[in-house]
Amino acid sequence: MRNSNRQWILRKRPVGDIKPGDLELVESPIPVPGPGQFLARTVYLSLDPTNRIWMSDIEQYMPPVGLGDVMRGGTLSVVEQSNNPDFKPGDIVSGISGWQEYDVMSGGQKMPKGPAPLPAYMSVLGMTGATAYFGLLDIGKPQLGETVVVSAAAGAVGSIVGQIAKLKGCRVVGIAGSDEKCRHVVEDFGFDACINYKKENIRDALKRECPGGIDVDFENVGGEIFEAILENINMKARIVLCGMISGYNAEGQIRGPANFSMILMKRARIEGFIIIDYFPRLGEFFAEMGAWVAQGKVKYDTHIVKGMDNALSALNLLFTGGNTGKLLVQASEEP
Ligand SMILES: NC(=O)c1ccc[n+]([C@@H]2O[C@H](COP(=O)([O-])OP(=O)(O)OC[C@H]3O[C@@H](n4cnc5c(N)ncnc54)[C@H](OP(=O)(O)O)[C@@H]3O)[C@@H](O)[C@H]2O)c1
Repeated sequence: MRNSNRQWILRKRPVGDIKPGDLELVESPIPVPGPGQFLARTVYLSLDPTNRIWMSDIEQYMPPVGLGDVMRGGTLSVVEQSNNPDFKPGDIVSGISGWQEYDVMSGGQKMPKGPAPLPAYMSVLGMTGATAYFGLLDIGKPQLGETVVVSAAAGAVGSIVGQIAKLKGCRVVGIAGSDEKCRHVVEDFGFDACINYKKENIRDALKRECPGGIDVDFENVGGEIFEAILENINMKARIVLCGMISGYNAEGQIRGPANFSMILMKRARIEGFIIIDYFPRLGEFFAEMGAWVAQGKVKYDTHIVKGMDNALSALNLLFTGGNTGKLLVQASEEP
């Protein structure tokens, strides 16, 4: 056990890209659990594009992280000491302990030990997988033979979306930022095609790979990629607005597409969603995704960076495309 608690504190709201000094790494005493509480040691911290949104004070779906507060983040932790009869030392607990090595908790979701490696519960069997599952199936409603496009295709959410769309019998075209990422999603995850948007003209490439037009867009990126997709949507297309990462480091509100009128012209549907709204239905997701993963029908990547002190530099990988699959910080050893 360490003798201090390393924590990342939000000091300034970033303007543009996150800069050194926007967050500060501090060492604090390890907290002591009170009655009904337990001490949780962080094993994995989830790094998510939305962390950048939480650092800002734009209109958002949760209160922004307060200046001077520990940075918010999803965690998988192990109970070290407990004054709570429902949690015993060694239990694995999922929660939102934030960017710190220890937290005092009074509850949380206990995770099973054994059926899948722990990082799976922070990726394909966690919020990432649930986002892909409910976003695609509930909002995108892909039908046999339709064409589904997914941006950030080699990322945590995108790589799962494409595999579910294949299970539903769709043509799946990914968009990603390198030849290696494109090769990976086609050869290892079974996508039909993938466009390297850094190398090819995205509009021409979409026309080539989606000759019958686009029926479902799982939108992770926004910006020019979204505009190029909108240019190619079919009548009654469904646009699952999951994220707009290309705008997260911009100043002020995130800009929408210049050709939004395509929604009108093509009588399309666009629906934004946030995974927290689906929490009451997580049981459906665990049952179906758990089986797909166990049967090898859905595969997943994790990109693990060691050490809580590396959390901030690791977060930037999401914005430079340096990650493939779900980005995690491993803050301490698995029990
Ligand atoms: N609505 C929800 O509840 C919910 C939940 C989870 C995630 N999300 C959203 O889903 C999206 C993906 O999240 P994730 O956790 O799975 O991250 P991720 O895809 O694993 O990582 C982000 C990827 O985005 C791509 N990217 C970054 N900046 C870009 C830009 N300017 N233009 C094009 N691509 C860019 C990079 O890949 P390349 O190398 O391919 O550029 C990067 O690897 C994000 O927009 C996130 O906010 C939404």
